[in-house]
Amino acid sequence: MNRHHLLIPMFLAALTVTGCDTPKTEPQAVSFSRDILPIFSAYCVECHQPGGEGLAASGLNLESYDNIMKGTKFGPIITPGSSVSSTLVVLVEGRADKSLKMPHGERKPLAPETIALIRNWIDQGAKKN
Ligand code: HEC
Repeated sequence: MNRHHLLIPMFLAALTVTGCDTPKTEPQAVSFSRDILPIFSAYCVECHQPGGEGLAASGLNLESYDNIMKGTKFGPIITPGSSVSSTLVVLVEGRADKSLKMPHGERKPLAPETIALIRNWIDQGAKKN
């Protein structure tokens, strides 16, 4: 057997061992009041509060937990436990039509770490914590 043939199984074995030893890192527990509300306040509330164009167009007020969970005039935008199917995540990730990307218009999208926090919060049950 030449060296090449030996190295590959050794490499795979090493990977398997590390895989077993390292505990799976759980995403940190996200707090609505500490982590999530400040994101909406900084990037969304300007338009999604009484008098703002986002609230006027969609009925969505992002100022408080209860309003956020109420959603738009068409219904909820958050599915607790499932960030993938939550409209809010679809929009901040720009997965919907370009005209519906949030923050709206020419604004910069949220940073990936910020989106990850929102996703973890929703996956952890979208609690009022
Ligand atoms: C510059 C103003 C503006 C900002 C900032 C903004 N929005 Fe919006 N938002 C709008 C407008 C306008 C609409 C209505 C869009 C439409 O129906 O064409 C809307 C609609 C929405 C909707 C409902 C879409 C639907 O299903 O009808 C969601 C959810 C939403 N925004 C989330 C957010 C989030 C989350 C943020 C912050 C990350 C944000 N928005 C920031 C203006 C804004």
